[in-house]
Amino acid sequence: MTSQPQAQIIDGIALSTQLRAGIAARVGELQQRGVRPALAVILVGDDPASAVYVRNKVKACAQTGVRSIFEQYEAAMPESVLLARIAALNADPAVHGILVQLPLPKHINPQRVIETISSTKDVDGYSTLSAGELMTGAPGFRPCTPYGCMKLIESTGIDLRGKHAVVIGRSNTVGKPMALLLLQANATVTLCHSATHDIGQHTRQADLVVAAVGKCNVLSADMVKPGAIVIDVGMNRSADGKLCGDVDFAAVREVAGFITPVPGGVGPMTITMLLVNTLEAAERAAK
Ligand code: GUN
Repeated sequence: MTSQPQAQIIDGIALSTQLRAGIAARVGELQQRGVRPALAVILVGDDPASAVYVRNKVKACAQTGVRSIFEQYEAAMPESVLLARIAALNADPAVHGILVQLPLPKHINPQRVIETISSTKDVDGYSTLSAGELMTGAPGFRPCTPYGCMKLIESTGIDLRGKHAVVIGRSNTVGKPMALLLLQANATVTLCHSATHDIGQHTRQADLVVAAVGKCNVLSADMVKPGAIVIDVGMNRSADGKLCGDVDFAAVREVAGFITPVPGGVGPMTITMLLVNTLEAAERAAK
């Protein structure tokens, strides 16, 4: 019996490095025209995971020549003060993108904060307007994680037209926009979630599975069609404190055709697409 070869690893670090080189070149071109792309990054409180994410975003800006304006506020910051700060950044022509790190402290309404960010600077793509632009196929900012997943899928060279894609997870930031992007790429899309009966019944039919649940090993090898593309959005800690994705990587790589690792898959691409959105915001503003 011939055994199935191991899946090809889709290397998010390598793809990010390549894309970031292109971003740096475009930043250089804009600077020659007197415009330095700039991203404001706002952190409220001292959640350690958020602090790490924010630090990585600021570092990625520096790497590509994007100016970052990092502002950290104490957890007790009144919502009105945060909204006023966003309004000031909206009015500042030298700022092209605004990112408020989530989650926010409980007394702050995250949707109100997101909707306050000018649509021309909504580089997270989280506003209702950006969501509507995605749904209708209009130009606009796409949420960074699903946008990065699309770039990882594109890097396999496989055309999604007519393929069956299954997304597990229906969050506003990943699952739902992911399904819409796959639909736009002409895939037939199934969106599974916590109330779905027998998720495996769907994923076993899938040419592509995107797992965005937030729990270790939700996708096991018996749930994957041989040769399928598997994208793992998860970044979780197992009971013994180890970092793990949503996919049982060691087992699924024996079945899948392509698979993203955790870490080194989707994570670096999320930040790369944030840089892309910021650069595009600056290019639009410079026109
Ligand atoms: N928290 C976790 N991921 C993200 C992200 O991509 N953007 C924002 N604003 N907050 C987050």
